[in-house]
Amino acid sequence: MASGREQWSSRSGFVLAAVGSAVGLGNMWRFSYLTAENGGAAFVILYLLVTLIVAVPVLLAEVVIGRGSQQSPIRALAHYGGRAWRPVGFVFVAAGVTILAYYGVIAGWTVRYAGMALFGGFDSGIADRFDDIAQGADAFGFHLLFMGVTIGIVAGGVTKGIERTAMVLMPVLFVIVSGLAVYAATLDGAAAGYAYYLSADFSQILSLEVLTEASGQAFFSLSLGMGCMLTFGSYLGRDTHLPRETALIAAADVGVAFVAGLVVFPLIFALGLSDKVGGSTVGALFITLPQAFAEMGPIGRGVGLLFFASLVVGALTSAISLLEVVVSTAIDGFGWERRRAALTAGAAITALGIPAAWSLGVLDVMDQVANNLFLLGGGLALSIFVGWRMEDPIGEAKVGAAGVTWFPMWRNLLRYVVPVVLAFVLYDAVPKTLSAVWGLFVGE
Ligand code: TRP
Repeated sequence: MASGREQWSSRSGFVLAAVGSAVGLGNMWRFSYLTAENGGAAFVILYLLVTLIVAVPVLLAEVVIGRGSQQSPIRALAHYGGRAWRPVGFVFVAAGVTILAYYGVIAGWTVRYAGMALFGGFDSGIADRFDDIAQGADAFGFHLLFMGVTIGIVAGGVTKGIERTAMVLMPVLFVIVSGLAVYAATLDGAAAGYAYYLSADFSQILSLEVLTEASGQAFFSLSLGMGCMLTFGSYLGRDTHLPRETALIAAADVGVAFVAGLVVFPLIFALGLSDKVGGSTVGALFITLPQAFAEMGPIGRGVGLLFFASLVVGALTSAISLLEVVVSTAIDGFGWERRRAALTAGAAITALGIPAAWSLGVLDVMDQVANNLFLLGGGLALSIFVGWRMEDPIGEAKVGAAGVTWFPMWRNLLRYVVPVVLAFVLYDAVPKTLSAVWGLFVGE
């Protein structure tokens, strides 16, 4: 074992840091617009199924590789699979860089909206100004601010930076989001929101396209497919009960997404803004909700502040985990000191966010490339790796969890189910994504 490798100071420290990674913009921003786009509860059900059958096995696979190897992704794959697997590790790191570059831009919007609520409140014209808020020098400025804080925390180290931040901020987020859900239930007209969110339109569920969206979302939301959970697993001691921690992380992630829907949909419907969700895209949360808050008067300002503050918190603990993948790779690979690695990697990623800060079109394509190509492709590679290549994944998973009897089923899922579903989904997603990239270059 690499002596001197940092370790989580407690079991709950690891779990909260991993939940912090999982819970983020994906749960609130992405989850609600995808649900609105793809048939409400029917999509939610499909998403839950994919999470259970496809994503959770990959989550366990990542932490098993991380804990077993005690290495950052590239070395961890080489440790169990030989040098031939190193390129997959490089793709993981590239995925982290790509995701964080645009994730920081969206996080910057949330900081700005929280600031607006705090310092002036929302005005009713806000929806029309979204394109200006989301693109340009200001958007970059907030991205820069957000990335600065992220870099500072990662530079602080695994326990003093990442773990401590999650221990403080995650409980705050849970309290705010559940409080908002209770508040939303008291609004006149909330019922229409629940009806939309919780009633299923099964005619939409049966397409390959919706399966693709649900799979991409399951991976994004659980931070899978690029070695993020692997890296967090590498700071664990041998005695951890991995299946239990994995279940806890997945349940918390899905739970927060579900409760966030109980906030978003009643709010939107209570204020009669539902026509705006239908045509929703990347901007949905940032267009409709501030408008709702503006119409609610002074209360809206307080509710809006809490809502966007919880988004900032979620985004921060997620961004930390993305940066940590790159930083731990640089520490292990180049022997850099942590602070130097955090600053260098963070600065490069911030700069890569420039195109996304200036164009919503670029941001949207980066999101598609990251999810559809990197994460789903990464999930496919990981399932083949642990299902077929790794010598004794069950033996490794059993450490600290000797009583668990379903590991063979886990490996069978990784062997026969996960790769098939992901190959199927990639068959749909790859051409679509490539043509989106192409469209960006030739201009719509
Ligand atoms: N899961 C986070 C969210 O839902 C985002 C995130 C953090 C992520 N680390 C990741 C997504 C790694 C994909 C891969 O907002």
